[in-house]
Amino acid sequence: MAMIDLQGRVAVVTGATGNLGQAVARAFLDHGARVALVGRSAERLAACYGGASEHQILVTADLTREDEATAMAQRTVADFGRIDILANIAGGFTMGPRLHETDAQDWERMLDVNARTMFLASRACLPHMLAQRRGRIVSVSARAAREGKPRMGPYCAAKSAVIRLTETMAAEYRDDGITANCILPGTIDTPENRRAMPDADFNRWVPPGDLASVILFLASDAARSVTGAAIPVYGRS
Ligand SMILES: NC(=O)c1ccc[n+]([C@@H]2O[C@H](COP(=O)([O-])OP(=O)(O)OC[C@H]3O[C@@H](n4cnc5c(N)ncnc54)[C@H](OP(=O)(O)O)[C@@H]3O)[C@@H](O)[C@H]2O)c1
Repeated sequence: MAMIDLQGRVAVVTGATGNLGQAVARAFLDHGARVALVGRSAERLAACYGGASEHQILVTADLTREDEATAMAQRTVADFGRIDILANIAGGFTMGPRLHETDAQDWERMLDVNARTMFLASRACLPHMLAQRRGRIVSVSARAAREGKPRMGPYCAAKSAVIRLTETMAAEYRDDGITANCILPGTIDTPENRRAMPDADFNRWVPPGDLASVILFLASDAARSVTGAAIPVYGRS
């Protein structure tokens, strides 16, 4: 099998300032793609990536906002001419009390940050992919989407929406050269998780780089026959 080569491809990476987003962006850049690095804060983007170059642009957008999601895609096409790959990495987690004590605000925040961002970023990038009859959308759901877990209702529901929207897009764009897949990470080995669970065996958690490898494959030509998949990537967690 040929090595993965993203030379000539343009990728949008949301959540680019996060743990997984940084690993995905670096994997795309290392494999020759030009990358639009998307986050809410210009300062955090600059701290992660420095400045713009011929290979990367830093795009500030709150992807829960329709206008900012649209502007993010337009800016990418204005600077790089196309969008071949969208990696929907932006997301967030919360655990709380049982359902009868769960704030509606937590429900809305989880749906917004995990599902609405994915919906709006995909909706903004799809017209450009349709125009060139080629596209790869890779999104991040979670193991917790497969079954409702105690004290994680809003998160489980929101990440389930990511799987269902992935399947919808796979079915809708099957004949347009566009694939849509998602991955289901187990516990990712991040500084935040290490702080939250100091007694855990970190070796069992899945390293961001391992998740990035799967996303890289799904974004590549080699995965052209894979669409509508929700792939568990748990490590030993
Ligand atoms: N960590 C885990 O164990 C785990 C497990 C399963 C699934 N996941 C999922 O994997 C993905 C990455 O996780 P992570 O641990 O790398 O997350 P992280 O470090 O917390 O990063 C989250 C990213 O999402 C961005 N973001 C949040 N809200 C946004 C919005 N409204 N508009 C645009 N960007 C927004 C953040 O950007 P800002 O700089 O703007 O804050 C940040 O770049 C997430 O979807 C998460 O739910 C994580």
